[in-house]
Amino acid sequence: MKIDVLTIFKNMFDTVMGESIMGRAIDRNIVAVNYTDIRDFSNDKHKRVDDYPFGGGPGMVMKPEPIYNALSSLDYKNARVIYMSPKGKVFNQNLARELSKEEHIIFICGHYEGIDNRIIDNYVDDEISIGDYVLTGGELAAMVVMDSIIRLLPGVLGNEDSFKDESHYEGLLEHPQYTRPRVFNDISVPEVLLSGNHKKIEEWKRYQSLMLTYLRRKDLLENIKLSKDDKKILEDIKKVVEK
Ligand code: ADE
Repeated sequence: MKIDVLTIFKNMFDTVMGESIMGRAIDRNIVAVNYTDIRDFSNDKHKRVDDYPFGGGPGMVMKPEPIYNALSSLDYKNARVIYMSPKGKVFNQNLARELSKEEHIIFICGHYEGIDNRIIDNYVDDEISIGDYVLTGGELAAMVVMDSIIRLLPGVLGNEDSFKDESHYEGLLEHPQYTRPRVFNDISVPEVLLSGNHKKIEEWKRYQSLMLTYLRRKDLLENIKLSKDDKKILEDIKKVVEK
């Protein structure tokens, strides 16, 4: 996979993308990430990339030409062009999975009051938000999306099974996890996990997963297919919770 990032703050990416799993994925050439400084594509002698909004209003808007010139320096017509914006569709695991199948993604990171809308209307495939709050720019949002996509690429996590239990894999939140020691500050791990009874352990994990999702994110339960057993467990959970 190839990822290009158009930004005026390239340095913001250095540590996040250079460390840990992201850094290793790049070192191992599973993904190539390149940064393009939008300012380098400004025709203005002061290298300005923003200007006052037509029609008035607070703040500045990023000019279209530097962004278009930066895009044109890349093979943008054969890429999925994504603009990070609080107005976009809200990012989730399904979209992460979809994007992880792309060969080439270009992220445009905006600042100030956003970018000239002619770029969005004519050159952007998806406008994506990472949640209902406003950041100072698209860089942190792009890093969030990049992290969640890159970790899904084959070979990045090593153990492909590690996806299967995690939150949002099948639309549920993940069960709690514990490790050694068995007793910490007089608090024991749930007995069942030490029982060696795999069937019981799997049942416990499923129950916890359903319980957590029911308590915290009922909205998720509406969008997934539940088995007969799951439905039965949920009925029990409702009885316990409503008591
Ligand atoms: N830029 C500013 N706020 C954002 C958000 N919530 N998601 C994506 N990009 C943004």
